[in-house]
Amino acid sequence: MTETKRVTGCVFIVCILVLGLQACGVEGGGTPPIMPASNTILLNATQTAQLEVAQLLFEEKALSASGQLACSTCHTDETAHSTPDGVGSPLGGVAMSNQGFRSSPSLLYKAKNPAFSFNNNGDPVGGFNWDGRANTLASQADGPLLASTEMANPNSNAVVSKLKALSYFNRFSESFGVTSTSTDQQIYDAMLTALQTYQQLDPDYSLFNSKYDRFLDGEVTLSAQELRGLSIFNDNNKGNCASCHTSRVAPNGDRPVFTNFRYAALGLPRNPNIIANADVSFFDLGLCGPKRTDLSTRFDLCGSFKVPTLRNIAITAPYFHNSSVDTLSNAIEFYATRDTNPQRWYTAGGLFDKFNDLPPAYRNNVQRGRPFGGNPGDTPILSAQNVSDLVAFLQTLTDDRTAPARSTKVNN
Ligand code: HEC
Ligand code: HEC
Repeated sequence: MTETKRVTGCVFIVCILVLGLQACGVEGGGTPPIMPASNTILLNATQTAQLEVAQLLFEEKALSASGQLACSTCHTDETAHSTPDGVGSPLGGVAMSNQGFRSSPSLLYKAKNPAFSFNNNGDPVGGFNWDGRANTLASQADGPLLASTEMANPNSNAVVSKLKALSYFNRFSESFGVTSTSTDQQIYDAMLTALQTYQQLDPDYSLFNSKYDRFLDGEVTLSAQELRGLSIFNDNNKGNCASCHTSRVAPNGDRPVFTNFRYAALGLPRNPNIIANADVSFFDLGLCGPKRTDLSTRFDLCGSFKVPTLRNIAITAPYFHNSSVDTLSNAIEFYATRDTNPQRWYTAGGLFDKFNDLPPAYRNNVQRGRPFGGNPGDTPILSAQNVSDLVAFLQTLTDDRTAPARSTKVNN
């Protein structure tokens, strides 16, 4: 949460705890207090204390080997906690000179992300990271703390000694159950839990207050262009976007998070700015490796990455797991013209090679259904007008960080 909002939010919550609802400007009297639709997560004092100290850890550069890198360096507030504006794969490592080969996804709405599993149809679903290899937000946090391209600690003990040196170590200990007899492993696990708690409790991580949410609540209308974009987004024969990026309210009233948490191979272009790609034999194959290791022989899954949320998508450029596309309208043009104008996407150094970020053996895994399809030279299924309508609609998915969170359910 932002500095100003944290203060407002906490003052409000603390006010209610200490003084009661009426004194804090919440309507009392005969009617039961109604937390504004707005207020979903009402934190108790323990949680408020936990959230504050956990946010400090998320923003703590001293937990990295370089002393220059916090979680928040790669997941910035201004970009819905994704990569800093315009950055593809952020640098990390002991000397801040190592580069990973993936973009940092937005961390918002991750509380809705289930653990990894295979569903009844045998399709992979859920998990954290682009390949779903972590099962919880806590176990995910272990990755960046130890990865040589990120915070680059040699082991968890090294992290714990950095943690113990922090001025607020005692506050952290009190909030997360660390005592004088806790082992280093227990302290480390408590810190991972803290990082998870932060992402789950901070209201900014699930605001559900975009224009589209207010539209779902019947409070505002969408412009004609935004409505056209929404209808193309949902139309199976046009954008077909909603078949993967869920846009409808769930039967129980839950607001959509614009992902079905499943996996797909889109056949994105290779990004020459990723250092690892200088090696022509290197490929990031998502579910089947190299970061994930348990599905390395599931060749049918090679090239598949998790469907990301599209909430706040207008502020998270560049796009896709390899940051291969710079703007939102180009990201949609990729869908529109991948098959009708492949030259545009797959020509590098004068050479044309469709699906050049996948070894030939896996190119059949790539999605062919709508909005993809057609042959070179055909008229794209999505016109230029359709693309700008889709952009207009997607811009309605940006949260208002100056306003309170709304209920996770649609109001009706
Ligand atoms: C050097 C930049 C960097 C730093 C520092 C960093 N991350 Fe990340 N983060 C990434 C990248 C890149 C990914 C995608 C990794 C992948 O798919 O393999 C990611 C993925 C994630 C995810 C998974 C999101 C999803 O959609 O499933 C979470 C959660 C996360 N990071 C939290 C953290 C936390 C907590 C910290 C601090 C302990 C942290 N990150 C530090 C770059 C970074
Ligand atoms: C078959 C499922 C599927 C369909 C249909 C689909 N997407 Fe996606 N979308 C994905 C997956 C998977 C990714 C991530 C791919 C990757 O990075 O490798 C993605 C990524 C994106 C991104 C980039 C997100 C980010 O955080 O970088 C945008 C924008 C996007 N989709 C918009 C759309 C729009 C608009 C449509 C309809 C025109 C659409 N998608 C249709 C599965 C789908």
